[in-house]
Amino acid sequence: MPGYVRVNVSARIVDGKALGIKIQEEVSERVSSLKGQGVAPHLAVVIAGDDPASHVYVRNKERACERCGIISTRIDMPGSSNLEEILEVVSSLNSDPNIHGILVQSPAPDGVDELAIASSILPQKDVDGFHPVNLGKLVQGRAGGLMPCTPSGVMRMLESSGVKTRGARAVVLGRSRIVGMPMALMLAQPGCDASVTIVHSKTEDISSICNQADILIAAVGRPHMVGKEWVKKGAFVVDVGISRVEGGLAGDVSPEVSEVAGWITPVPGGVGPMTIAMLMENTLRAAEMQLF
Ligand code: GUN
Repeated sequence: MPGYVRVNVSARIVDGKALGIKIQEEVSERVSSLKGQGVAPHLAVVIAGDDPASHVYVRNKERACERCGIISTRIDMPGSSNLEEILEVVSSLNSDPNIHGILVQSPAPDGVDELAIASSILPQKDVDGFHPVNLGKLVQGRAGGLMPCTPSGVMRMLESSGVKTRGARAVVLGRSRIVGMPMALMLAQPGCDASVTIVHSKTEDISSICNQADILIAAVGRPHMVGKEWVKKGAFVVDVGISRVEGGLAGDVSPEVSEVAGWITPVPGGVGPMTIAMLMENTLRAAEMQLF
């Protein structure tokens, strides 16, 4: 067509799998050195019910523990378990000096209060980083707490790619306690220094807000919700969503976004492996903290 040149810009892929393996190798070395001091890091994973996706996630966590030399114990509970029964298990893990990290896999059985579970885990064993003390430390900007794994993994991806975050406009799509809310706080922290907007189901004109983002984090769990018209040219796009669709897995970001984005995290092979790597790092840190 005269007057038009079609340029196929293709985003750089942020390889979460490779970065996750590198982090796990570093964790593995530190685990060996901790074992030399007589401490064997040990993660307990509680899973209630038989949600197939949760079982896949838990298996992946167990495999990662094996790779890092971290002991893992899995506690299977029936899907009919109530809050009291889960709290009893957590309480016995809290008081076991050989257990350094505790994770209760979400979703909990119907009707079970997940916030009550998160609050019942000792903050120093809370490798998910969901306890109010750990989230409070994040708000206060205090180092030393255990931080939620998925947003920590996203921060590592940003760091490793070398993109400028200071003064960048970041938009977080989704306000979940697991990803969206802690993600927004981490991006705004001194040192990262992004200016953050959180958009959610009640936000008006979401697409034009997203379109101003230098860093766009999609964490809503709606397959291919983010189209290329939502994305600023050259933006760093992080796809946290992972949904089962006919024919496989889909992220929140439509594949055509790679024509405009500067960077993009793939699904699978992006944020997922980074979340697991951060869980390994948190378990190691929890063991180190309990040593000193
Ligand atoms: N289910 C999906 N993601 C997570 C996570 O990061 N932690 C826990 N405990 N459950 C989950």
